[in-house]
Amino acid sequence: MLTYHTATTLDGFIADPDDSLEWLLRQPIDESGPFSFGHFFEGIGAIVMGSTTYRWVREHLVGSGEPWPYTVPCWVMTSGEQEPIEGADIRFASGDVRPVYEQMVQAAGDKGLWVVGGGDLAGQFADAGLLEEIVVSIAPVTLGAGRPVFPRRLDLELLELAQNQAFACARYRVVGPLVESTEASEKGPA
Ligand SMILES: NC(=O)c1ccc[n+]([C@@H]2O[C@H](COP(=O)([O-])OP(=O)(O)OC[C@H]3O[C@@H](n4cnc5c(N)ncnc54)[C@H](OP(=O)(O)O)[C@@H]3O)[C@@H](O)[C@H]2O)c1
Repeated sequence: MLTYHTATTLDGFIADPDDSLEWLLRQPIDESGPFSFGHFFEGIGAIVMGSTTYRWVREHLVGSGEPWPYTVPCWVMTSGEQEPIEGADIRFASGDVRPVYEQMVQAAGDKGLWVVGGGDLAGQFADAGLLEEIVVSIAPVTLGAGRPVFPRRLDLELLELAQNQAFACARYRVVGPLVESTEASEKGPA
């Protein structure tokens, strides 16, 4: 199962316009509480991210002396040249996400797949009918602008809700492309 699991602001941004996550990293969270990332990651066998996210991890974590944080194979989607990270299991890919998905399934065995970010990349998997769930932890922040959490029109089904300290957490099933009633959209709001 492919899941897009991310933190977001209330107004739907996963990073600010300068790719800062300062607004997120200062929030209190119980690492062993509901929707904890550690628990989610135990079930994950392969991950995929876009090049902006990759550069953020390389510059902010690896660049400050921390190890590459992921222990499972990671695909990085990019049309350009990215600097590799020594010792990290990273495969660069570009274009259609479907062959990447197939390779991730092979690598993950009976474990799940995670789209780390960003939103459009998760959207590319949804466009191909491959994204099953979206899990969001909503931080009590608005930014007004930034990197969008999910720039697509989809219908979702709410499966689970919880609070983890500062975060409102929700898990959704991807139902499919948004069904829009022509009659309702012509009438407008009541
Ligand atoms: N709040 C959170 O929990 C959270 C989670 C994850 C990430 N983030 C942050 O959110 C931001 C996300 O950045 P973003 O919106 O730019 O998304 P991104 O997915 O990280 O990067 C987008 C870039 O990836 C490359 N790409 C995507 N799909 C591709 C494809 N099919 N083929 C080839 N290349 C492809 C393209 O760049 P090139 O082709 O030029 O390489 C594209 O501009 C980052 O700052 C990240 O640190 C936050």
